[in-house]
Amino acid sequence: MSLYKPIQIGSLSLSGNLFLAPVAGYTDRVFRSLCLEKGANFTFTELISSEALIRAPWRTEVLLRRAENEKQYAIQLFGASPEVMAAAAKIVLSYKPALIDINAGCPVPKVTKTGAGAALTGNPAQLARIVSAVVKAVTPIPVSVKIRSGWDAHSINYNECADAAVEAGAAMVSLHPRTRAQAYEGKSDWRHIADLAARLPVPVSGSGDLYTPQDAARMLKETGCAAVMFARGAMGNPFVFEETRSLLLTGAHESAPYTERLRTAFRHLELLSQELGEKKACLEMRKVFCAYLKACPGAAALRNSLVRAANIAEYRLILKDFSF
Ligand SMILES: Cc1cc2nc3c(=O)[nH]c(=O)nc-3n(C[C@H](O)[C@H](O)[C@H](O)COP(=O)(O)O)c2cc1C
Repeated sequence: MSLYKPIQIGSLSLSGNLFLAPVAGYTDRVFRSLCLEKGANFTFTELISSEALIRAPWRTEVLLRRAENEKQYAIQLFGASPEVMAAAAKIVLSYKPALIDINAGCPVPKVTKTGAGAALTGNPAQLARIVSAVVKAVTPIPVSVKIRSGWDAHSINYNECADAAVEAGAAMVSLHPRTRAQAYEGKSDWRHIADLAARLPVPVSGSGDLYTPQDAARMLKETGCAAVMFARGAMGNPFVFEETRSLLLTGAHESAPYTERLRTAFRHLELLSQELGEKKACLEMRKVFCAYLKACPGAAALRNSLVRAANIAEYRLILKDFSF
């Protein structure tokens, strides 16, 4: 059977198993919509504060909005209190998410010191209480968790953590097999994903070091996970989804040509400008454009000009010699 396959998460049926991971500062609805156009089967918002949702919901509105072509999406929430997480989950139901995902992996001290994010991987009992409260609040919408391998190398506890979450009602577990101490450094340990995939009664989604279609094929094959989540590998590269699907279905794929990458990057800028206003979008796009250019040969000079562009007209001028 092909490694590209449908996946069932509780009551949620998805036609394929190539996901866009939650990535704060990148996976806004504009980028999510481009990834869906280019073959992503499912998308996640970035982590959204449950405390902000109940105290200052207007601050979270822009993060919660769904893209027009986003028929099904997951909203990811973070927090340390079962009651607050349950209340926040109820609030976001008005956006009609297909899945509520609980962040138990964020390593940022501002988050972990409150007992949220990766602190929950270090505290499976509290994670279970949160899952249970959120499941109760949003049934029949399925609830998933995204965990790390453990707090640090001396406390690898993904098995305990995943078991606690599933027992409390989680319908999927996503694992980024690095510890909180590793943050995003070093190599992710895919053996941990294989462990969970072999044991859990619910689907396991794998994350970590997925940069190419071949990486995704290898993770699916080596670990037996049900789905893969592209994170840094999708930044400036929404094409990776259709390329991966092609590789999994036919054994081959073509890389998106230079002109298509630039055309998509420019469209990304225009869409972001409608969303945020031109000035803010142009600033945001500096980092994003650089990500699109990574795969383009001889892009250094172009990159140097683009990071100075202050408005869309300047972007257009810099790109005028590229016929897209
Ligand atoms: C800048 C950045 C922001 C991230 N934000 C989130 C987030 O909001 N929620 C989450 O669960 N994971 C977040 N992650 C983790 C990714 O979803 C993913 O699990 C991790 O980057 C490993 O995959 P990779 O090695 O393929 O990038 C973030 C990662 C990065 C680099």
